[in-house]
Amino acid sequence: MARVTTASLQEMKAKGEKITLLTAYDYPMARLLDEAGIDILLVGDSVGNVVLGYENTLPVTMDEMIHHTKAVARGAKRALVVGDMPFLSYQISISEAVRNGGRFLQEAGAQAVKLEGGKERAETVQALVETGIPVLGHLGLTPQSVHQLGGYRVQGRNEEAARRLIEDALALEEAGIFALVLECIPAKLAAEVTSRLRVPTLGIGAGPACDGQVLVTHDLLGFTVRKVPKFVKRYVNLYEEILNAVGSFRAEVKERKFPAPEHCYDFPE
Ligand code: KIV
Repeated sequence: MARVTTASLQEMKAKGEKITLLTAYDYPMARLLDEAGIDILLVGDSVGNVVLGYENTLPVTMDEMIHHTKAVARGAKRALVVGDMPFLSYQISISEAVRNGGRFLQEAGAQAVKLEGGKERAETVQALVETGIPVLGHLGLTPQSVHQLGGYRVQGRNEEAARRLIEDALALEEAGIFALVLECIPAKLAAEVTSRLRVPTLGIGAGPACDGQVLVTHDLLGFTVRKVPKFVKRYVNLYEEILNAVGSFRAEVKERKFPAPEHCYDFPE
């Protein structure tokens, strides 16, 4: 089973085959998503709000990201594993960005990194790519800038903002990204970006024209305690399933129905 590579993603765009990207933060989920044939596993800094209980992604550290990426890399045999560069790991200087980006490949076993931002990150992207670290770009709603954006809201909704986003996308492509995440932007703008880029676009809340689709796995599984955005489709309600299962365990223990004889060991003769 051949590993998905940045080159195979490019071929998928050329053939019109849609690309799938889901988030993973641990080994069992990585194994499941890999077995299901998901093309890219993103160890998102959304680990902060989705599983670590932080209010947003800003407190997530490099060490936390490396810890989770190692677990995901151990579980993924086919999918391309992308480590998400956390806040302040790539903005301070280009050399810090290269050192931190390199840790995802050298220590954690990822095959690529993701970072947020447009033109202002082009030099950083170029330095990472020149070092041999493939970069996934991220434009639109960039959660590490939540305070600057004034909340989690749709981006690129007026002509000026749309023009800037297209310029940013082109600058990132020029700098060497292998694909671009477009988060929470109008479907028409995402379609325009997709048609203007040679590299694949991966949309999350960006409509059907993107070359691939992204979701936070816990959202699509209904295994999340946060309010989910409009663009999420929930395929199962795991929160309720788990609550029911755990409730049944509790009731059976209280009622002395568990453990039953089949769950017990005999004393040796
Ligand atoms: O951190 C994350 O999960 C992400 C995706 C939503 C693209 O950046």
